[in-house]
Amino acid sequence: MKKNKIFVACDTTNISKINKIIHKIHNPKLKIGYKFGLEFLNSKNGRAFLSKIKKKIVFADLKLHDIPNTCSSAVKAIKDLNLAYLTIHISSGLKALKAAKKVSGKIKIVGVTILTSLDNKALREIGFDKDVKKLVLDQAKLANKAKLDAIVCSAQEVKIVKKVFKKEIITPGIRFSPKTNDQKRVLTPKEAYKNGSDWLVIGRPLTKGNIKKNLDKLLDHLKQ
Ligand code: C5P
Repeated sequence: MKKNKIFVACDTTNISKINKIIHKIHNPKLKIGYKFGLEFLNSKNGRAFLSKIKKKIVFADLKLHDIPNTCSSAVKAIKDLNLAYLTIHISSGLKALKAAKKVSGKIKIVGVTILTSLDNKALREIGFDKDVKKLVLDQAKLANKAKLDAIVCSAQEVKIVKKVFKKEIITPGIRFSPKTNDQKRVLTPKEAYKNGSDWLVIGRPLTKGNIKKNLDKLLDHLKQ
């Protein structure tokens, strides 16, 4: 049986909450990885926790966005952790992507395209005049050129990305209830898998409130 793959976004600084998430979110139908982002990685106990974590698929959502030398130095600096995936913004540019990839060893380098919290209006505000889909396509081409291992994009753009990028596709902005929070380009888990996402990233819809109930709701949604 092919399992549905999900990265749970562990967006908290609270270690006991993280342990609760790890303990409660599992099911034979799911393959679970754990995504730790800026909040946890910058917290006092975050790095120490990750240095001890065992037999888990760990995704460090560092979202590097810097010059080539700083990006490659940052990858080297975090290599002591047992990471499976690490992110860099594709807008860091081709040289930075290549520099990060060159020193990453076994860690899969994941290129982040336009954030799922941005829509065309928000993009224009920061001076990006192209349509979001065109921007994501250009960025996917760059990720391919830099031989990155995976891409993060909205599930709405998976089909576009697949035309030029043949490796793993990871999609945040996943919702199985009407509440979208700060996300703009969202899809449901079923739609995301149907479009060809390899991994979904799900945070608040699973981790806020009653985790068990949230997980049951997700499993029901996937069954329908
Ligand atoms: O709570 P929610 O499901 O919106 O969490 C989504 C997670 O994915 C967050 O940790 C966020 O930082 C991350 N992410 C994202 N959009 C991207 C890249 C990463 O939402 N483009």
